[in-house]
Amino acid sequence: MKSAVIVGIGSYLPPTVVTNADLSARLDTSDEWIRTRTGMSVRHVVEPGDATSDLAVEAGRRALASAGGGGVDALILATTTPDRQVPPTAPEIATRLGLGTGAAFDLSAACAGFLYGLSCAAGLIAAGAARRVLLIGADAFTTMVDPDDRATVVLFGDAAGAVVLRAGRADEPGAIGMPVLGSDGSLADLIQVPAGGSRSRSTAPPSKQPDPGDVYFRMNGRETFRHAVCRMSEASRQAVEQAGWDLADVDRLCAHQANLRILAAVADELGFAPERQLSNIAEVANTAVASLPTLLAHSAADGSLRAGHRVLLTAFGGGLSWGAATLTWPDLPRTAPTP
Ligand code: UT7
Repeated sequence: MKSAVIVGIGSYLPPTVVTNADLSARLDTSDEWIRTRTGMSVRHVVEPGDATSDLAVEAGRRALASAGGGGVDALILATTTPDRQVPPTAPEIATRLGLGTGAAFDLSAACAGFLYGLSCAAGLIAAGAARRVLLIGADAFTTMVDPDDRATVVLFGDAAGAVVLRAGRADEPGAIGMPVLGSDGSLADLIQVPAGGSRSRSTAPPSKQPDPGDVYFRMNGRETFRHAVCRMSEASRQAVEQAGWDLADVDRLCAHQANLRILAAVADELGFAPERQLSNIAEVANTAVASLPTLLAHSAADGSLRAGHRVLLTAFGGGLSWGAATLTWPDLPRTAPTP
């Protein structure tokens, strides 16, 4: 059976930045609170009028270039913030990248979307339905957080990251071990945007219209924190065991950048010293689905992730949804991480 092998990577951050000082100038918060409670200092935000596809196209272009050019048989866009509810965003991205009329679809698994996307790509390749797949994780989360809610607005930034996968052997560098995935819908309300879907319709009569605040993202931070640590640790152990590794064999932990204290708790639970953890949370904050591919791209570019490193990926988000996967980092051309 063919495995999915990473042969290209790229990422994109929109140029406009919002610092902790910018946020504390207009909200009841402080640089000290944000840094000590989250580890974040700066986040990049989409330009007014820009959307998720604009970030995704740039990351996709860079990943294809890093893979040495050429087309793909399928494009998967993992995102929580599609440009529109209808149509899906992936076909437009495929067209803008000049990828023709092959399969292109959106995948929704919140912040775990990149791992669900890897699983889909690996499945398409294993089934012989595709030989090369472009997987993009992109989110413009700042377009759905309440700009006046200090509890959420400080947490998120916008970004896109992408990988090109091709059919190959399981023992090649870059081959993805089939991800461990999980979900728990009994806790769906912990992370949500109440309005806009079929449950709370924007087409409802005036008396049944959602509250204006329901269009914004909401999260029960404390509860989410607890589940994030538990689920990422558990999935990580399973993925490492499935790969036939020990946790001590892992050179780099690449975990969803939701909160530095969550990262520390997961690392502590799994026995990872700081030098074995990758992090860009201070510079990009929580970029949702883009978090893992952006972290991989940035770490490969700055040399903290090198060819031959055994990598453990893990993520957690709304749904609840989570996952973990392993791979040995391949020898890829270095790409610039920022615009
Ligand atoms: O990507 C999807 C997955 N997401 C996550 O995994 C995020 C998980 N949760 C978290 O990262 C943390 O829970 C947060 C960063 C969201 C919040 O940190 P916390 O330590 O759990 O704070 P808290 O919600 O318990 O709030 C503590 C206090 C509250 O004040 P009182 O009630 O103690 O007086 C909040 O009102 O901090 C207050 N607070 C703030 N203060 C200053 C909340 N946000 C802010 C803020 N600035 N931005």
